[in-house]
Amino acid sequence: MQKNERVSFGSKLGAILAAAGSAVGLGNIWRFPFEAGNHGGAAFILIYLACVLILGMPIMIAEFTVGRHSKASTGKAFGILAPGTQWKLIGYLGVLAGLLILGYYSVVAGWTLEYILASLNNGFAGQGPEDFVASFQEFSQDPLRPIIWLLAFLFFTHYIVVKGVKDGIEKSSKIMMPVLFILIVVLAICSVTLPNAGKGLEFLLKPDFSKLNADVFLGAMGQAFFSLSLGMGCLSTYASYFGPDTKMGKTALSVGAIDTMVAILAGFIIFPAAFSVGIQPDAGPSLIFITLPNVFQQAFGGVPFLAALFSLMFYVLLALAALTSTISLHEVVTAFLHEKFGWKRNRAAILVTAFCVVTGVLSSLSLGAWDAKFFNLSFFDLLDFVTAKLMLPLGGLLVCLFVGWYLKKSVSRDELTNYGREKAPYFSVYMFILKYIAPIAIALIFINELGILS
Ligand code: PFF
Repeated sequence: MQKNERVSFGSKLGAILAAAGSAVGLGNIWRFPFEAGNHGGAAFILIYLACVLILGMPIMIAEFTVGRHSKASTGKAFGILAPGTQWKLIGYLGVLAGLLILGYYSVVAGWTLEYILASLNNGFAGQGPEDFVASFQEFSQDPLRPIIWLLAFLFFTHYIVVKGVKDGIEKSSKIMMPVLFILIVVLAICSVTLPNAGKGLEFLLKPDFSKLNADVFLGAMGQAFFSLSLGMGCLSTYASYFGPDTKMGKTALSVGAIDTMVAILAGFIIFPAAFSVGIQPDAGPSLIFITLPNVFQQAFGGVPFLAALFSLMFYVLLALAALTSTISLHEVVTAFLHEKFGWKRNRAAILVTAFCVVTGVLSSLSLGAWDAKFFNLSFFDLLDFVTAKLMLPLGGLLVCLFVGWYLKKSVSRDELTNYGREKAPYFSVYMFILKYIAPIAIALIFINELGILS
């Protein structure tokens, strides 16, 4: 390798798994079920799938194009591809979104550590559904405990980002992703065989279109961007490490398929279990933390060792899945500060971590001790709303416009075909979606939500 050549992932599979590692995280297993639960279940899921296919896939390929062609992180990529223009603002918007997400995301990531400890202490043994609800509330509203876990999680992320993540991200993703997947399948099977699971399956599979409103569309679109790590240049930063042989279309499809499968399987774990033990599917952010311990108890409660083992494995893998995502969020911001201001990575990373400690602590407190409301939302929910439902779709819209209208078509074609070495028969459909369908769809969902059309 020449000295000045940018580092790249070691293999095509490594590239897919690293991108999937960023995509698969709390968004699939924690956020997807509670958003689906809040928005009525199956109808939300159908719209979500449409968003993944029509918006997610083309925008992911567009982000890959920006990243691999510029060979730079998102904060710099647009400046390289469109020098002297304002397109660089897309990169800045993404960096800001990443910074804001990392704060509240780490709060939930920290919760997984508490549940790892509880599994180790066999702390779920002999408890019933109400106990899990009560103990989660008590824990999440505690002014101190969640904050300690949040700090632990942020420092761990910080450490890995500073150490340099190329090897770490790729290698750990290759082992963790398959194990997580197998465990999720096993748990889904356990969950659907619980007594009364049928109602949960109905909620998951039988759409009730009378529940559709502007909120459901905005929710599904936001979830698609959040879950696929799109709209903030995370995957374009990863794509800057892709080798010349990585196939853009195939990689995007694989990442999209893995991410969607994990989310749907998480639904098959959570909803049958929730209905089985009488927990409302719209319990919000607490949903997986109160339903899952129930699954472990009901499925393996007769053998406490197995219940503890499965819950331990699950929360460890969930924490690791969250970690691959927090690393990717942190990396986008750190790389930006490093490249833009020429700061050492170490210094840049300290600043990012310090900022997230502040927003993370405030988010955590806003679930209990600090009851201030912003537009009727807690600080935690405000950060989630502003990033997932506004900033990411807006970032996605701008990427569509950039690649669809500004970037030379030949650049897109070259990147998609690996300079003519691969076929990309879908190229014209892809360009059409980027130019017209996706921007119009995103704009309509925004306008509809703001109530301008109604
Ligand atoms: N996609 C991650 C998840 O589903 O948990 C969250 C995330 C990571 C969002 C990276 C955005 C991002 F850039």
